[in-house]
Amino acid sequence: MKVEKLHMRCLINGEWRDARSGSTFDVRNPATNELIATAPLLDREQVEEAISSANAAFPAWRDLPARERARMLRAIGDSLQRRSEEFAQLITREQGKPLAESRGEVAYSVNYLHWFAEEAMRVCGDIIPSDSPQKRILVLKQPIGVAAAITPWNFPIAMLARKMGAALAAGCTFIAKPAPETPLSALLLGELCQEAKIPSGAVNIITGDAAMIGAALMASPFVKKVSFTGSTEVGKLLIQQSADTVKKLTLELGGNAPFIVLDDADLDRAIDGAIFGKYRNAGQTCICVNRFLVHESFAQEFSERLVERAKGLVVGNGLEEKTAIGPLINDQARDKVVGLLNSAASDGATFLCGEGARQATSRFVEPCVITGVKPSMRIWNEEIFGPVSTITTFSSDAEAISLANNTPYGLAAYVYSSNLNRALRTAELLDFGMVGINDTAISNAQAPFGGVKQSGFGREGSKYGVDDYTVLKYLSVA
Ligand code: SIN
Repeated sequence: MKVEKLHMRCLINGEWRDARSGSTFDVRNPATNELIATAPLLDREQVEEAISSANAAFPAWRDLPARERARMLRAIGDSLQRRSEEFAQLITREQGKPLAESRGEVAYSVNYLHWFAEEAMRVCGDIIPSDSPQKRILVLKQPIGVAAAITPWNFPIAMLARKMGAALAAGCTFIAKPAPETPLSALLLGELCQEAKIPSGAVNIITGDAAMIGAALMASPFVKKVSFTGSTEVGKLLIQQSADTVKKLTLELGGNAPFIVLDDADLDRAIDGAIFGKYRNAGQTCICVNRFLVHESFAQEFSERLVERAKGLVVGNGLEEKTAIGPLINDQARDKVVGLLNSAASDGATFLCGEGARQATSRFVEPCVITGVKPSMRIWNEEIFGPVSTITTFSSDAEAISLANNTPYGLAAYVYSSNLNRALRTAELLDFGMVGINDTAISNAQAPFGGVKQSGFGREGSKYGVDDYTVLKYLSVA
């Protein structure tokens, strides 16, 4: 496959580089364990080179007319669209998700690149009326400087496009560190940046030891901003590491999404939303439903219909068109899900389907639905990241809201009701950064993606996503 040669190199200062030591790490298909490629294990000096090149490229990139930056971003998006099938196949091979979802991820990424190409031309400041006719108050929005992104394995290219698009639009130069499980589509995106004539150093894509690269980025006084998508545990470490250089952070961390079915919900819509919101990417998204909270009057019907649909989802290799649920990313991910299932069972939860998953030894975990889940259980409190639906019942709206908010996380939540006022009121009382009302397909380039509480801070996508890469400068003119 053409991409394999390319993927063995990192993009630093406009050049494709191997590790100086020649060291590489393996990238394997999670469905088959087949070795797909190797990628460089850069050393610290090479990471510093990437940082220096981004720093050197910053003044020229910042000063380029926004229209020029927009043109290049659009060109990257256009190339990605043209090569979407190649990227989709690669994403499925490195990440495991079904091909249809990989195609969706590529389209989602193109949207981010095109959206931010437009937003590049709208990074506007303000003129604020002063107390005196002799004085002017001007506010400039300026790019913060070198921005780095640490991206996750669950959306190998979309999370990169979302961070890179905003950074380049704002006028920042950029360093990406993709997840070691899925670096290939990210490295291939570097080829599109080269074709679009992004200046040397303005985009760098580096791979290697995650802890070393993270520490180097966080310690560098040249890196002014880091955007991270991943676990709350690593996010907390980055907050600590950012203290020395007082870096700006955007953190999109873990979630524990509730899905509330009020007693006037349209069950057909709720079940469709539940299947998409729970089982896409085998349950491995930060906004996947973690807890179904269902009004007691509906609980039986909802559970039966969810079980029927879940049982119909085909588990298999994502490259096969019939597959709806691919493998989990690795054996540790499988072990975590199996551990949560067994702990829920021993704490009294009941399996309505998928009990075999308690003994899963492969990464192909069958979809499960379990009921009788309580806030005291581990499975209530931890992000499952697997194809497991947990159901808890409630008897009043107030109880549903209180149960939903009973978590330190606050990324996404969902409410199903046929009464818009009631749904809006419920959404207003939920401590989450995003709420889908009769909707679980909430992600798009135009909307601000992000959480509250221990799900992080900052926003990605939308006009607010660009703000995260800018600083305000106030000019007082007398
Ligand atoms: C995530 O899981 O972190 C991102 C999900 C999305 O963008 O839909």
